[in-house]
Amino acid sequence: MRVLGIESSCDETALAIYEGGKGLLAHALYSQSTHAHFGGVVPELASRDHVKQLVPLLQTVLQDAKLSCSAIDAIDGIAYTAGPGLIGALLTGACFAKSLAFALNKPALALHHLEAHVLAAQLSMPELSFPFLALLVSGGHSQFIRATALGQYEIIGETLDDAVGEAFDKVGKLIGIDYPGGAKLAKLADGCPQALVKQLAPFPCPLIERPGLDLSFSGLKTHALYAWNKSKKDDNARYALAYRFQEAVIKTLTLKCKRALSQTGLKRLVLAGGVGANLALRLSLAEMVEQNEASLFIPDPIFCTDNGAMVAYAGFLHFSQGKKDSDLGIPVKARWPFEALA
Ligand code: KG4
Ligand code: ZN
Repeated sequence: MRVLGIESSCDETALAIYEGGKGLLAHALYSQSTHAHFGGVVPELASRDHVKQLVPLLQTVLQDAKLSCSAIDAIDGIAYTAGPGLIGALLTGACFAKSLAFALNKPALALHHLEAHVLAAQLSMPELSFPFLALLVSGGHSQFIRATALGQYEIIGETLDDAVGEAFDKVGKLIGIDYPGGAKLAKLADGCPQALVKQLAPFPCPLIERPGLDLSFSGLKTHALYAWNKSKKDDNARYALAYRFQEAVIKTLTLKCKRALSQTGLKRLVLAGGVGANLALRLSLAEMVEQNEASLFIPDPIFCTDNGAMVAYAGFLHFSQGKKDSDLGIPVKARWPFEALA
């Protein structure tokens, strides 16, 4: 079965084609740069940009998959992100997907964005099997999920305020990095000279003393603000602050992952979502699982951030179990609790 996946929940337009037995045939992504100037995603601009990109990206993936444009008939089903996300942005991809499916007389399938993120690890590491624990850390969500089977997910801990990616972006903005600043802030942190690290005291790790799996990052963000205001606000201060912020986030997430593995008895840990591209976090979790006789599964960095491959793949899994949209409606949802899938 050959599935076209369409992602348009926020500021990335991404399409991909996945074929059972063969794997990923093609993927293409357009990352909108128009928002940097505003310091965050402007929903209306995001929707307009998606509309412009969807057809050219479809042509790209059809060509790259070695299917000629007229061979779009070779697609057996179309999966699209139906939520959670920006409602206008979701509507562009969903309307495109449903219209195409209707015209081709093929099934369409509404997918949950976070489920696609969580399953993306299997694209890079097919040996991953259920049950597993997932740490999902993106721009809008930070959650611990117990995944027992396809479509069966339970949230066992989550952030009480900011998502991890959001905190990275806000601290990035504080020190003068354009939105989205997560990856650039991580690069500063990774390149911080040791001599500068010593000039700034470690940041507190939020909620680690408290039992349980909840997370919180707004206090850490405020701590970064005070540290920045006390500093000379120069390049050295930028390096040191990026380092201490990333260090506190990673220590916290690593400790909570260890606790979550021990509480659930699960032995497989999946790292998913945009912050999963963070190299220092990947290394820290790899070390922790090794010490705890568990295994770590992480998508390739390009499939941690929003992408079409995860949608095509999750679509393939669900279509294979006979799931598909039952009517021509466009069921997008800005908010969509993960557990509602079960
Ligand atoms: O999953 P994603 O692409 O979109 C959402 O569904 O939110 O995640 C985007 C988030 C942004 O906040 C971005 O700054 C962050 O992931 N991010 C990173 C890194 N790469 C992306 N944060 C820390 N380190 C990175 N290397
Ligand atoms: Zn995402």
